Amino acid sequence: MKQKKSWWILAIVSIGVMLPFMYPYLTLDPAKSRIAISSETIEYPALIMHIAFAFIALVTGFLQFINRIRRDNPKVHRIIGRIYVISVCISGLLALAVIFYVEDFTKALAFLALAILWLFTTWQAYRKAVKRRFSEHRIWMIRSFSITLVAVSARILVPILLLCYLTLNGFTLSGGREQLIEELLKVNIWAGLVLNIVIVEWMILSRKMKEL
Ligand code: HEM
Repeated sequence: MKQKKSWWILAIVSIGVMLPFMYPYLTLDPAKSRIAISSETIEYPALIMHIAFAFIALVTGFLQFINRIRRDNPKVHRIIGRIYVISVCISGLLALAVIFYVEDFTKALAFLALAILWLFTTWQAYRKAVKRRFSEHRIWMIRSFSITLVAVSARILVPILLLCYLTLNGFTLSGGREQLIEELLKVNIWAGLVLNIVIVEWMILSRKMKEL
């Protein structure tokens, strides 16, 4: 089966959205970090490694759903799959460490939920593959990758959340620009998480309904 064009568009958009956010970290200079680095110990190295492995997970995740590789080249599919699982595990565990430095509780809790779901869904996908339960493996991989993509959707949602904020506040910025950005960054991960879970569970359910 030919790969859907929309898959390539999603891949290009996702990588295109993430690259500018990753760029400041390529310098390995904590002073260039987009988020405030409050500790001189492990925070920055953990953040850098988190970002590097998360990016590998993002790229290999897209490759895992390419029909040609999955059907005609199962060995390559298995190798890429292992790289994806290892990257998620490393990046997800490092995210758990970075969360201790996130000052805002709402934001920290969103990242915690995200990290736990990322590790859990990926582990499930891996276990099902090992047990050769491939249709369940596919469903858990779809769930795992939808969590990977929260990093992208949470960022894409910011302008929409901005519009909601302005509408709900009568198009005034009483708390100023700083407060606006703070408020948006508190909720964008939650919004991305809810959106991606709803879309993916709806996709899985409608596929199951067709099979009935
Ligand atoms: C899905 C599970 C993920 C979790 C739990 C997670 C967690 C985190 C946490 C806790 C931070 C620090 C945020 C802060 O202090 O405000 C962070 C930052 C970051 N993460 Fe992730 N992340 C995930 C996925 C990804 C993915 C797939 C990418 C893609 C490459 C990514 C790229 C980044 C970048 C670039 C930053 C730096 C923040 C910025 O400058 O905007 N993350 N992540």
